[in-house]
Amino acid sequence: MMFQLLYHREKAPKSAMTLQLRVYVPPHPLIKHWLAVARDAATPSVLFRSAMTELGRWLTYEAAREWLPTQEATVQTPLDSSPATLIDPTVPMAVVPILRAGLGLLEGAQTVLPLASIYHLGLVRDEKTLQPSCYLNKLPEKFPPQTRVLVTDPMLATGGSIMNAMAELTQRGVDPALTRIVCVVAAPPALQKLNDAFPGLIVYTATIDETVNNQGFIIPGLGDAGDRIFGT
Ligand code: PRP
Repeated sequence: MMFQLLYHREKAPKSAMTLQLRVYVPPHPLIKHWLAVARDAATPSVLFRSAMTELGRWLTYEAAREWLPTQEATVQTPLDSSPATLIDPTVPMAVVPILRAGLGLLEGAQTVLPLASIYHLGLVRDEKTLQPSCYLNKLPEKFPPQTRVLVTDPMLATGGSIMNAMAELTQRGVDPALTRIVCVVAAPPALQKLNDAFPGLIVYTATIDETVNNQGFIIPGLGDAGDRIFGT
């Protein structure tokens, strides 16, 4: 198998941790429900956007597990002191939505990561060659060491766009092992490319679909997420 397929709370065996891409498909009813809504061709834009927001929220919640840096503390309750675990506010957090469609997942991701900085990256695929090109890059010149980066894009199809995004990030000092990709439908070609180039990376997705057709669409997929989010 080209990557490790894992489920909620399952831990990768230590020996394989740095050798293979890990792909988590959380078996959660809310994630399954909103995926079904997003897949349905009869779902109108307004509801499709809700589905993206919900998927962004719950997949980011899952991705935050064992990724958000914490610190131990003691808090005073009204009755006694208690040991406590808090999010460490000193570790920089960033969300990178890949425009346009990645914007659909952003709002939900932000509810889970309210303190994260948002750096937009605009990529569009050429309809014929399927090669991505960049039309907006708001990434900082360098990310501080230890920055946790969450990349959002609902579709990983041929993998051209996510590979382009990962190259931009790693050139700027981002550690793939501290990076999480949140997507909705992932296809084998993209997962294969990520596995070959960034084996320490972890992907959270609502599903892994079978294939990508000649036009670069994921089958069965959910159509063109960008068009469905923005009604174009
Ligand atoms: C879609 C999608 C991904 C990309 C996936 O974006 O949102 O970013 O294609 O395809 P790939 O894995 O083959 O690169 P698109 O270029 O259609 O732009 P949009 O988000 O603005 O609609």
